[in-house]
Amino acid sequence: MSNLIAPSLLAADFANLQQDIEMVNNSKADWFHIDVMDGVFVPNISFGMPVLKAIAKHATKTLDVHLMIVNPDKYINTFADLGADILTVHYEACTHLHRTVQAIKAAGMQAGVALNPHTPIAVLEDIITELDVVCIMSVNPGFGGQSFIENTYKKVSQLKHLIEFTASNCKIEIDGGVTTQNANALIEAGANVLVAGSFVFGAENPTNTIEDLKNIIA
Ligand code: DX5
Ligand code: ZN
Repeated sequence: MSNLIAPSLLAADFANLQQDIEMVNNSKADWFHIDVMDGVFVPNISFGMPVLKAIAKHATKTLDVHLMIVNPDKYINTFADLGADILTVHYEACTHLHRTVQAIKAAGMQAGVALNPHTPIAVLEDIITELDVVCIMSVNPGFGGQSFIENTYKKVSQLKHLIEFTASNCKIEIDGGVTTQNANALIEAGANVLVAGSFVFGAENPTNTIEDLKNIIA
């Protein structure tokens, strides 16, 4: 399977969101990456349900919703109703992660877990076979446009080993500071999904930039 590209709408033009959504619809991108921040789990507030509802109306590809919020359990059914296909919660925000993951699946979505840069892969040992996606944060969550943390490569390899060892079907997603400079090494280490915000929407030609990322083969 070739790698999947998930442009992050956090870096889109919010005053022309429909235009940016159509660009992604008509590009080689595979998923829409949608960052929901609550100003509590992370030091920033992005957007919430009404905006996701508007996005879902126009988006024709998989909606990959990344929750950077405390108490995500409270909103699982709401996100399912809004059309999320994949719901990713943070390991650091979930006391009863196994229960949360089961609830996401029971609501009909694929379940993802995101790890902050300081959180080791080993914490997923006893839940990896239940997961559809692990999102390795390659920046501290909260903002787009930050620089990629190099320690990520090591974590990708460790996660790939864990997935192989447990025969899990889980995908490895990388989120933060992804560019054509590091994409190759990430895919080589085992990444399956590349999230890119500012690199795509800050480019002169976002459609071509998505294609450049898509064409990277390790
Ligand atoms: C960061 C978000 C990312 C962000 C990535 O908290 O989870 O998805 O939009 O943006 P870039 O690609 O600009 O680092
Ligand atoms: Zn994200």
